[in-house]
Amino acid sequence: MNAQPPVIAASILSADFARLGEEVTRVVAAGADWIHFDVMDNHYVPNLTIGPMLCEALRKHGVTAPIDVHLMVTPVDALAQAFAKAGATTITFHPEATYHVDRSLQAIRDAGCKAGLVFNPATPLDHLRHVMDKLDLILLMSVNPGFGGQSFIPSALDKLREARRLIDAHAGQKGAAGGRLIRLEVDGGVKTDNIAAIAAAGADTFVAGSAIFGSPDYAATIRAMRQAIAAAGSAGR
Ligand code: DX5
Ligand code: ZN
Repeated sequence: MNAQPPVIAASILSADFARLGEEVTRVVAAGADWIHFDVMDNHYVPNLTIGPMLCEALRKHGVTAPIDVHLMVTPVDALAQAFAKAGATTITFHPEATYHVDRSLQAIRDAGCKAGLVFNPATPLDHLRHVMDKLDLILLMSVNPGFGGQSFIPSALDKLREARRLIDAHAGQKGAAGGRLIRLEVDGGVKTDNIAAIAAAGADTFVAGSAIFGSPDYAATIRAMRQAIAAAGSAGR
């Protein structure tokens, strides 16, 4: 069951970097809930993007929306701390990119941010088992990380169902009041025409880059996404 209101996280990877501040202001005004911030190091993934200075610059530009930092880097810990200082809200990393997953999660939380793990399409969810208490978010990649504009890998739907079961079982063990709600986020190839199936599989947080920034009307695209998610929710009841 998706108990939390859906979140649309606009991935600025597909924004016009020459006008980034303006693009972020526009997409938030168009209804995006979070700004998804893709950090690539040309080592863990074959591409190079943006770092903590740009996160800080967006905060100074006046961006108050949650900034959802997706680290595709190794090592993880020093950069995670730099992003916490730069104004990140949520910081997620790939478990195979750090030696001590539990320590990396704890360090992010100690720095005052929400913490999450990211799973590539072929990475099993085993890492979750012993750290559910330290997670605010689980992010499933529905493309191989590194680039925007790729096609959604359909096996992500089964994996979302599996992650949803784990989250609900964890919340059930803790009791409805005591269980912290862990968001289930999906990243890669999310479009207006597949978002309903993705929501029905259990996601409550949707990263979309090219679908939003490649469209002529950001607000209309985000609205269409919300309508599709709502329709999937009422069909499931
Ligand atoms: C890919 C990134 C994604 C990317 C998604 O490695 O993690 O956040 O921006 O882009 P779209 O929505 O275009 O697939
Ligand atoms: Zn991402």
